[in-house]
Amino acid sequence: MYGMVNKAVEDMVISGYGEPVWEEIKARAGIDVEVFVSNEGYPDEMTYGLVSAASEVLNIPAPQILEAFGEHWVLKTAMQGYGDMMAAGGKNLREFLINLPDFHSRVSMILPHLAPPHFACSGAGERWVRLRYVSHRAGLAPFVVGLFRGLAKMFHTEASVRQVADKSAGAECDEFLVSW
Ligand code: HEM
Repeated sequence: MYGMVNKAVEDMVISGYGEPVWEEIKARAGIDVEVFVSNEGYPDEMTYGLVSAASEVLNIPAPQILEAFGEHWVLKTAMQGYGDMMAAGGKNLREFLINLPDFHSRVSMILPHLAPPHFACSGAGERWVRLRYVSHRAGLAPFVVGLFRGLAKMFHTEASVRQVADKSAGAECDEFLVSW
């Protein structure tokens, strides 16, 4: 993944727990990278390693860390670093979610080596949207829940986010229902 992902994990940990805790997490993960470069590629295993080391050091289950990271990604990384792109995604939560399947193709224009997730809208009403999520990466469903929670906050919308199909429990793919 692009270094910006590891950088965002770093930013979240340092702002919540301070620099020494981040150094402990990196050491626990066996990573001796001083500075993650945003536009450089790093092995996915490094990101997974950081999340599981953070889970051990902070004594918080990894899915909970991924969920918090999803919110952080939207509300800090994306909104502060890519405000125009986020604004172009839609003018309200419903519109943004319906447009989400096309979102990373625009991101790919500035990050050409992106291996993006795939979203497909499987239904929408006035106050709900259902989305399928497909990725070649495993275990990121809690991250997606956090991303949707972050988007709801970005639009000041009180929404509920529910995973309605779970690939790790045998479903064809993960599926989420966002309603408000
Ligand atoms: C401008 C804002 C955004 C940027 C720059 C961005 C960029 C990225 C990057 C760099 C990755 C790592 C993949 C790689 O490096 O190959 C990624 C992964 C991912 N992004 Fe985005 N993203 C943005 C917004 C969003 C939003 C709004 C969502 C969904 C609500 C989202 C969902 C995901 C998911 C689920 C992954 C994990 C990869 C996977 O499932 O395989 N992203 N994105």
